[in-house]
Amino acid sequence: MTRPFAPKVFQLGFVALECPDFARTTEHYAETIGMRQTDTGHDGEVYLSIGYEHHNIVLKKAEKKALASLGFQLQPGTDLKALVKELSDHGLSAQIKTDSQPGIKDLIEVEAVPGVVFQLYTDIATPAPGFKRSGVAPLRLGHVAVISSHGQNLIRFYKDVLGFWQTDTIGGGIATFMTCNRDHHVVNVLSVPEDRVHHIAFELKGNASHAMASDTLREAGVPVKWGPARHTAGHNLAGYHFDPDNTLIELYTDMDQFVPQLNMCEPRPWHEHFPMQPRDWGLDELCAWDTEFGFNLAQA
Ligand SMILES: [Fe+2]
Repeated sequence: MTRPFAPKVFQLGFVALECPDFARTTEHYAETIGMRQTDTGHDGEVYLSIGYEHHNIVLKKAEKKALASLGFQLQPGTDLKALVKELSDHGLSAQIKTDSQPGIKDLIEVEAVPGVVFQLYTDIATPAPGFKRSGVAPLRLGHVAVISSHGQNLIRFYKDVLGFWQTDTIGGGIATFMTCNRDHHVVNVLSVPEDRVHHIAFELKGNASHAMASDTLREAGVPVKWGPARHTAGHNLAGYHFDPDNTLIELYTDMDQFVPQLNMCEPRPWHEHFPMQPRDWGLDELCAWDTEFGFNLAQA
C-alpha cells in the first residue's frame, strides 16, 4: 500500500502548559500577548483563544513548570478508533477521551515519548471570541519547539507515525524541523538531554508588527531577548521573549513556505541556496543577517 501523501494532522491547535507562576503567566498571555479567555476548567485551568478556536493556549497551575500536552488537529474524517489501533501497532498506548476538556468532545491522547503528551482531535469548538485590539494580538499559533532527551524517538513519532515532512536540521540534527502543512516548520525537536518546551511561536499580522510587538512588550516590562531578525532555517523574521514562567515565546512573520511535492521551499530573494531544499545549518548560522546578539538562542 502506498503511503498517503498527507500527514495525519494539518496544524498545531494548542499548547497546554503547567505554570508555577500561574497568575502572572495568565496575565501575560491574556493582556500582553492579547488572547481572550474562553473557559475555566474544573481544576482552575484557563483556556485562551487567539480569536477563533476555543483554545490555543491552556494554562494550569502547578508546582513545577512542565509541558502538559500538545494539541494537533487531525485531517477531517479521521477514524479515531482506527488511529488508536494504528498507534498501538507502533507500540504506543493511546486512548480516546470524551469531554476531557471544554471545546473538544473526543480526542486521542498518547504519550509519544516520556513527557510529551499529544492530544489529537478532528473537531474543536470555534466560538470566535474575536481578536483583541490590545496587546501583541497575533494572527495564529504557528509552531512549537520541544527539547527532549528522547529526541530521536519523538522525531520518529512525528515522521513515521504522524507523517510529517522533515525540512531542515541545525548542527547535524541537534534541532530538527518538520512540517505537516505549508509552513517550513510546525514542530522543531531539540535532541539534548533535557525535557521541556524550548519555545512557542505565534505568527504576527505582518513584518511591521514586529516593532509594535516589541513596543508592547517593553510597555509590559518584558525584554526582547533575541531579534527581531531573520533566521536561516525557515527564514522567518523572529523575536523572542520569556513569559513569566521562563517559557520562551517567539513572535514571527515571513516563514518559508514548503512545497512537499517539490521537496523545497518556495524561492525567496533572500535565500542563500536555490533550490531551498532540506539541509543542515551550522549552529553559528542561526541568523541570516549575521546579526550578533548577546542572548544565546541555541542555549535558551
Ligand atoms: Fe521557532
